[in-house]
Amino acid sequence: MDLKQFVTVVPDYPKKGISFKDITTIMDNGEAYKYATDQIVEYAKEMGAELIVGPEARGFIIGCPVAYALEIGFAPVRKPGKLPRETIAVNYDLEYGVDQLTIHKDAIKPGQRVLIVDDLLATGGTVGATVELVEKLGGVVAGCAFLIELTYLDGRRKLENHNIRSLMKY
Ligand code: PRP
Ligand code: MG
Repeated sequence: MDLKQFVTVVPDYPKKGISFKDITTIMDNGEAYKYATDQIVEYAKEMGAELIVGPEARGFIIGCPVAYALEIGFAPVRKPGKLPRETIAVNYDLEYGVDQLTIHKDAIKPGQRVLIVDDLLATGGTVGATVELVEKLGGVVAGCAFLIELTYLDGRRKLENHNIRSLMKY
């Protein structure tokens, strides 16, 4: 299946000059959504993932069905103030300013093999912070999976020697 057929490219969103890759048209097609999920499930098996970690919000859309299919757990990475128990936090750079991501302190067991899943690899800021959170808790990043990678932004640079799988490249 050619997944790109189901991505809607929206010009000048959210601002002029940006060509937004809308994945809601993958999700609202049952076959395409399942196909994309199945590809990441296969990758997760290859990498021996024991837990899926995904950053809010779009990382949940992709990561949760993968965890369900594998009958393994899913741990959410969230913006500050959203998780109710003790968390650790990591700062990451945005185009303007910094933001922060958090995870529950007990979300990952030391040595657990974690697959990080998100919809998009752009500058790599989000996934870079997520890797840091996983590793701070003693988890092993087994791999990072994305529906889409914007290769011209070179987010891979931030992932150093981690294994990466993206289903589509632009
Ligand atoms: C988008 C996207 C990725 C991230 C990629 O999330 O879902 O998580 O940007 O960009 P980066 O590689 O430059 O960090 P966004 O922060 O817009 O929030 P959302 O998932 O809640 O929509
Ligand atoms: Mg996101």
